[in-house]
Amino acid sequence: MRIDIATLFPEMCEAYLSESILGRARKAGCLEVHCHNIRDYTLDKHNRVDDYSYGIGKGMVMQPDPIWRCYQAVEAMAQEKPWVIYLSPQGAQFNQKKAVELSGRPRLFLLCGHYEGVDQRILDKIVDEEISLGDFVLTGGELPALAVTDAVARMLPGVLPQEECFARESHYDGLLEHPQYTHPRVWDGREVPEVLLSGHHANIEAWKLEESLKQTQKKRPDLYQAWLEAHPPQPEKKRKKRKFTEKTPPDTPEF
Ligand SMILES: C[S@@+](CC[C@H](N)C(=O)[O-])C[C@H]1O[C@@H](n2cnc3c(N)ncnc32)[C@H](O)[C@@H]1O
Repeated sequence: MRIDIATLFPEMCEAYLSESILGRARKAGCLEVHCHNIRDYTLDKHNRVDDYSYGIGKGMVMQPDPIWRCYQAVEAMAQEKPWVIYLSPQGAQFNQKKAVELSGRPRLFLLCGHYEGVDQRILDKIVDEEISLGDFVLTGGELPALAVTDAVARMLPGVLPQEECFARESHYDGLLEHPQYTHPRVWDGREVPEVLLSGHHANIEAWKLEESLKQTQKKRPDLYQAWLEAHPPQPEKKRKKRKFTEKTPPDTPEF
């Protein structure tokens, strides 16, 4: 997957994207992310990319032309047309479901606004979708673009050691994750739950699901309710009378 971030502050984004898991994934070629400085595409002799807003507003607005020129140049850098996202407090709120959906696209173009925002005409021309990080206003779209990039990238093959790393985490299946423990076995008089030391896979799995349900019920009753509705209790199936054979030991549960 290729992600292009168009911003006035590419160094801010590069600093984050060069470190830790994403930095390693980029070096290993599991993920291609490029940060583009919109200012490089202005034709203004003073390198301006913004101007006063029309109307009575006081702030500065990013002009459409440098963004259009940046977009055209970036679009031509690879074959597929990118899915264009404008990070905006007016967009639909980002979540794990959206991250999963975006991780299936071959190319994303993330447009970061700054100041009062971006001239509406370029948004009308190129944007496929607006995404918000939440109901609050930030100074720029860089943090939201990095949040989207991070959440999407960690689901790409090779970025994390195994798919299980993200597929069992909070929000992936509608639940919050069970509590996690590491060494030492006893810390501050508090012990790691016995079952996790047992090596009994079925019991450990059952404990994880139970704890996951408890965490969700306690911290996010809205998610818990939605999960219960999506997983109604199964009616007990009637036991069929079966003849015992050598292949079916007497204690085999019947489904
Ligand atoms: C100060 S904000 C502009 C807010 C705009 N005047 C409004 O009221 O909707 C500047 C830029 O930060 C980004 N931004 C701010 N808050 C955001 C949020 N919650 N989610 C995503 N992007 C955000 C957007 O790219 C926006 O263009």
